[in-house]
Amino acid sequence: MKNSALRKGIILAGGNGSRLAPLTLGVSKQLLPVFDKPMIHYPLSILMLSDIKEILIILKEKDINAYKNLLGDGKQFGIDIKYSIQKNPDGLAQSFLVGENFIDNSPVALILGDNLYHGSGLVKQLKRANKQTDKNTIFAYRVNDPERYGIVEFNKKGEPSKIQEKPTYSKSSYAITGLYFFDNSVVEKAKKVKPSKRGELEITSILNMYLKEKNLDIEILGRGIAWFDTGTFDALHQAGSYIRTIENRQGLKIGCPEEISWRKGWISDKEFLEIGYKLGNDDYLEYVKRLIEDKTQDII
Ligand code: DAU
Repeated sequence: MKNSALRKGIILAGGNGSRLAPLTLGVSKQLLPVFDKPMIHYPLSILMLSDIKEILIILKEKDINAYKNLLGDGKQFGIDIKYSIQKNPDGLAQSFLVGENFIDNSPVALILGDNLYHGSGLVKQLKRANKQTDKNTIFAYRVNDPERYGIVEFNKKGEPSKIQEKPTYSKSSYAITGLYFFDNSVVEKAKKVKPSKRGELEITSILNMYLKEKNLDIEILGRGIAWFDTGTFDALHQAGSYIRTIENRQGLKIGCPEEISWRKGWISDKEFLEIGYKLGNDDYLEYVKRLIEDKTQDII
């Protein structure tokens, strides 16, 4: 299958968020605050840091206006954002069916709207995964509670040997995080996925197809990296305090789409400043002015 050069990105931001009820009764989970930003800013930033500029957000119909009010068509960030509806949360693999027309003949990255990544060396790993358009890359992270996630086991050569969704027991402590870089064959693969015992089109079924083809690279996210899946009250709180601790210590923001865009030269000083004024938050405006005055800061 032919891949056109530029990878597109999908953020999956549907689901019922029932584990976070009543927070999620009136508001989409992925719009809840993680310290000083809506949750979706973090996965959006990860796609942008990977150099992906064409992005589809998949959401529930009732939430579409809220997302459009927040992110619009993405022009303010120098990117292009489109929206599609997922009627029912029938599984992660459905992203590639809902997104089929958007993906067209491009390679694609999927990120879950509740996954948050930060840390040393991450941007290099992201850019590498994005550039390898003929390869498929997922990111594994050592966790204390592997049974809550998709899990990858490795053979003696360090190659991936087995992938399972939330096994009751696993020899491996490596969770598969919610960020997937695929070639264009993912759309055809998604069409072949059958609902699992819990009735979902599982992303792990797609991963197993790539594994069978020996066409799946695993990037390990090491100790210097933080990964949160913010699906529970504790995880949401932990992610918020993590962001607060680092941001307050460094005086730099994590997961700020307009800052990333400005550093990449996708928007000008003037456009960045305009966002600062538009938000009407004096502290934020000061932040933007400080960055523009001192262009020597780091990107992460
Ligand atoms: O966070 C990483 C984990 O994400 C992986 O390790 C697992 O392999 C993968 O299946 C997934 O597990 P979760 O149990 O976290 O999936 P969950 O059903 O909670 O869905 C993740 C997010 O995607 C959640 O914010 C809601 C959204 N979602 C989920 C489904 C099933 C949708 O928007 N649509 C859906 O159909």
